[in-house]
Order: sequence, then C-alpha cells, then structure tokens
Amino acid sequence: MALITKKIKGTEDVLPKQSYRWQFIEQIMREESKSYGFKEIRTPVFEHTELFARGVGQTTDVVQKEMYTFDTKGGESVTLRPEGTAGAARAVLEHSLDNEGLPIKASYFVSCYRYEKPQAGRLREFHQFGLEVYGTQSPVADAELICAAQSILDRLGLEQVRLELNSIGCPECRAKYNRALRDYFGAYRDRLCETCLSRLEKNPMRLLDCKSPEDKKIAENAPKIIDYLCEDCENHFSEVKKYLDAVGIKYTVNPTIVRGLDYYTKTVFEFVTDLIGAQGTVCGGGRYDGLMDELGGKHIPSLGFAMGLERLLMVMDAQGVEIPDNDVCSLYIATMGDAAKVKAFSLLRQVRECGLIAETDVVGRGLRAQMKYADKIGARFSVVLGDNEIEQNRAKVKNMETGEQIELDLDDSFADKFSVHVLTSDKSFEF
Ligand code: HAM
Repeated sequence: MALITKKIKGTEDVLPKQSYRWQFIEQIMREESKSYGFKEIRTPVFEHTELFARGVGQTTDVVQKEMYTFDTKGGESVTLRPEGTAGAARAVLEHSLDNEGLPIKASYFVSCYRYEKPQAGRLREFHQFGLEVYGTQSPVADAELICAAQSILDRLGLEQVRLELNSIGCPECRAKYNRALRDYFGAYRDRLCETCLSRLEKNPMRLLDCKSPEDKKIAENAPKIIDYLCEDCENHFSEVKKYLDAVGIKYTVNPTIVRGLDYYTKTVFEFVTDLIGAQGTVCGGGRYDGLMDELGGKHIPSLGFAMGLERLLMVMDAQGVEIPDNDVCSLYIATMGDAAKVKAFSLLRQVRECGLIAETDVVGRGLRAQMKYADKIGARFSVVLGDNEIEQNRAKVKNMETGEQIELDLDDSFADKFSVHVLTSDKSFEF
C-alpha cells in the first residue's frame, strides 16, 4: 500500500521545533485576556449547519461557498466551524449563562475551516484566538475589547499593524442604507457578478466585500454607511472613539469596512498590516447585538473579535520579532552501565520536579553518541555517570558552553543544588 504522506491542501503542520512560537503567542493571549477578566470557553469543532447558516448569514461567502458541510450517518447536516463566534454564542444560550450575571467574558482558541483558495496567509484550516463579551450595550465595552486586542498586539511586538474602525449601524440605519445601496448598485446591474446580483435584493451590503475586481471597482464609489447612521449609533461610535482617545490608541475611521459576516451591528474594526501581502487583516471583530435573537435566544447585545494565529506569526517574522525558545534542555545525564542508568532515572525525576527540562538516553546509545545528542539538543549542562561516580556518589556537572565544572553529591540534594546552579549561571539572572 502506498504511504500516505501528503497533507491536505490549505492545511499546515506545526512541528515540534516550531511549536514554541505558537506557545509564546498563546501564552501572551492567555495572560492578557485574563487581565481583562476573560475566561476560556471550549466548544465542539462541528455544529449543526443551521447554526452557521443563521448566525454567520445565508448571503455571506463563508456560508454560500466556504463551509465544510457533511451529512452524518444519522442523516444530520453538520459543519466544521468556519469561525468561533457562532458556537460560543450557542453555548452561552444553551447553558443560560446570562443567569449567572452579565457581562459574560469568554476567550477561545479554535481551529477553523473554510474552503477558500489557499494563498499566503489564507488557509483552509487556520487558527483563531478570540474574545467575546455578552450582555452589554455600553460603548465602554467596545473600547475595552479593542484595547485588549491592542494590548495583545503590543505585547507581541507588532508595530506595523494599524487599527481601522467603522460603524455599520443598527437595523434601523441599515434599512435606509440598504435602499441607497440598491439604488446605487441597481444602475450597474449588467456588470455585477452573479453572486452579487442575487445579493442585491437580499443583502446589498454584501456587495461591498465582493472579491471580483470589477465589482470591487464599482463598490469604490458606493454610498458609505457612516452617512446613514441614526443618532443613537452615531453617539455610540463617538463614545467608542472617546475612550480609545483617552488611552491613546490610534485608529483611522475606514468607512469601507463592513466585515464578511452578517451578524455585525454598530462598531466594526480590523487590525491590518501591509507586511504579509494581500491577506493583511490579522484581527477582525465588532458588535453583534442581534445574533442571540437570530439564534432564537434572548436579546443579549454582544461583541467580540478574533485574530488569525498564522497571520500573526507571519507578521512577527516579517518584522523580525525574535521569539524566545525557552524549551531548552537544562540537564543531560549521559550514562555508562546499568547502575548509572537507574541513578540517572531517579535524579532526573527530581530535577524535573524543580521545573527544569532534563533528559537522558532512552535509545541505548554509547557515551560518544549520547554526548553528540546532548550537543544537538543544545543541553546547557551535562553530567556523565559511570561506575566511578556511582561509587563515590559524586559527579561533575559541566556547563556545555563554557566548559566550567562543579561537583555535586548524587543524593537528595542534587536537584535543588543543580537548580540554584542553573539560575546563578544564567547571565540575565540577578539576586
Ligand atoms: P474573520 O474576519 O472572518 O472574523 O476572521 C478573523 C481573523 O481570522 C482574520 O482577521 C484573519 O486573521 C483570520 N482568518 C480568517 N480567515 C482565514 C483564513 N482562511 N486563513 C487564515 N486566517 C484566516 C471572524 O471569524 C469573527 N468570528 C470574528 C469575531 C469574533 N467577531 C466577533 N467576535
């Protein structure tokens, strides 16, 4: 049988040598979102297809063209999540989390699936980190959410990412705006692509994010939603900007941002960069006051964002941000003979309990090959245990970089003493 060794187009592996890069950004996201009071939510990778059709919107590209949908053996239509918001909203409603007090602040890491044309920064399986806030209409929540996204991007060292902001109003302003859009695009009926023609009646705002070059050109001069906002939406938008100004978060108002998903109302925003090509949006989000109603639940005004982890890593690379690799082996114990092997086994357990990374030979190599391996993995210290060391119950701990050695007893004090030695040898360490 032929070996199956090719991954599916548009998917990526994260190999053991690369994973520290992911863990680095994930840790920053966890820490930062915790400091804003978010707690993690985990939802299934697949949901009823209807959830996304209703939540994300029937006329969106995601629902019309990009979902991984299949019938189960039980005859149910299920879909691999194309994004995290709908599933999290479903869980909030299903578990009546609003009974426990509002707002609810949830964070998540999710893998997402969209059947898009793969290119740099655009995958069919990709990963998002997201924050969602349920149960507030206040513009302070919008500003706080944007502030959380900015803090994360700052901590990742992403300087060349800019914030673009818009308001797409409430259903009331949207109705007026939709009429204006129908009038405008109606005049270009014979030049619009087929999908856009079908969207013209149902949801004309979707024409603004059509990917066809000709439709894009037509959309350039289309009416702007910002000119159709009702007083309430305008005030909301001004308040959001006021709070962002108060903490010095820079933004530009971009009236062309409408987002590709249907649930948005009022504030929408994107963090964008020019460093990684055409797919330069690293984070997108906004308010979605009507989503919970749309899903058949209570009226719970909400908002959130999601960042693409692959794109963030691309920007970090493009900017030359160095990601520290803390997964370095502190101690490698090379062994000769059975007694040494057993001793190493128990010493290493204690060293690991001190929070250090420690290894020994688990392959059955000779001493030279073991030391070669220690070198290869970049072990900071090594110990060679042979019959002599076992007899004297003492061994030399060697700094692999400087060659310096110290002697330690091979008893219960070994792990503690070794940990202190590691700390004090660390150039960046100060008492
Ligand atoms: P979205 O703009 O569709 O929004 O996706 C959010 C982010 O996911 C994008 O800014 C991008 O970084 C990343 N992304 C999207 N598609 C791909 C892809 N094919 N390949 C790689 N990365 C991709 C949402 O998904 C909303 N659920 C965000 C949200 C949360 N709004 C409110 N709460």
